[in-house]
Amino acid sequence: MNRDRSAPFVITIDGPAGSGKSTTAREVARRLGWHHLDSGALYRALTLAVRRMGIPEIEWHALTDDIFLQPEISIAPAGTRLEVLLDGSDPGPGLRDAETTRLASILAKNPRARARLTGVQRSALDFGSVVADGRDMGSVIFPDADLKVFLTASLEERARRRLLQDGRAVDGRSVRREAERIRHRDRTDATREVAPLRSPPGALEIDTTEVSFHAQVRRIVGAATEAAGTLTGQAPEK
Ligand code: C5P
Repeated sequence: MNRDRSAPFVITIDGPAGSGKSTTAREVARRLGWHHLDSGALYRALTLAVRRMGIPEIEWHALTDDIFLQPEISIAPAGTRLEVLLDGSDPGPGLRDAETTRLASILAKNPRARARLTGVQRSALDFGSVVADGRDMGSVIFPDADLKVFLTASLEERARRRLLQDGRAVDGRSVRREAERIRHRDRTDATREVAPLRSPPGALEIDTTEVSFHAQVRRIVGAATEAAGTLTGQAPEK
């Protein structure tokens, strides 16, 4: 718990691919009037920059600081969103394409890439209280967060949500294929040596398979308001 009264509040929401972290974090931030940090977008932006350099994938695990420091990666408030900028601009649709998605979890295994993004993620606090989502928000980036949440959902449900989110067909075959892709990413994220995906100690764990989106958002906002009220003796600013 962060007991410094002047410090911004921090909620971390971690979980595996497709668990709904980003949509949940965005809505929790909107309701509280805080900023939402989508740390996955930072990993994607760095991935896109390395892709554009044309470096073969086989070399990615050994890339060093000089490569990761070439692109300028920053965040800037846009409403309650913290927009991710690559060399000062919106990275564009390549940020979310299938190849960037696949390569991001390969890049994320490299400790140098993770170190490159640590300061950028923590700079979110320069803009005030934050709801940060990712894989290591509660364990590594904001270990003193006021509230830590870990979201899970069944593999099939996560695959179904991903397809719906991308506007793709949701039939048995596509669900199985997407589930296989997610399973592969989960394995890469959970077995890497640095900052593996884990539920951090003390986290509020929510299995969202059968919980409605609004119910889970309400639960997190309720827990955040309680944590902030306990610390300050009043509700967090809206
Ligand atoms: O959350 P999203 O799917 O956008 O993240 C893309 C990839 O970035 C993940 O598969 C994961 O490997 C990596 N990542 C990470 N740590 C974070 C956020 C994302 O390793 N905090």
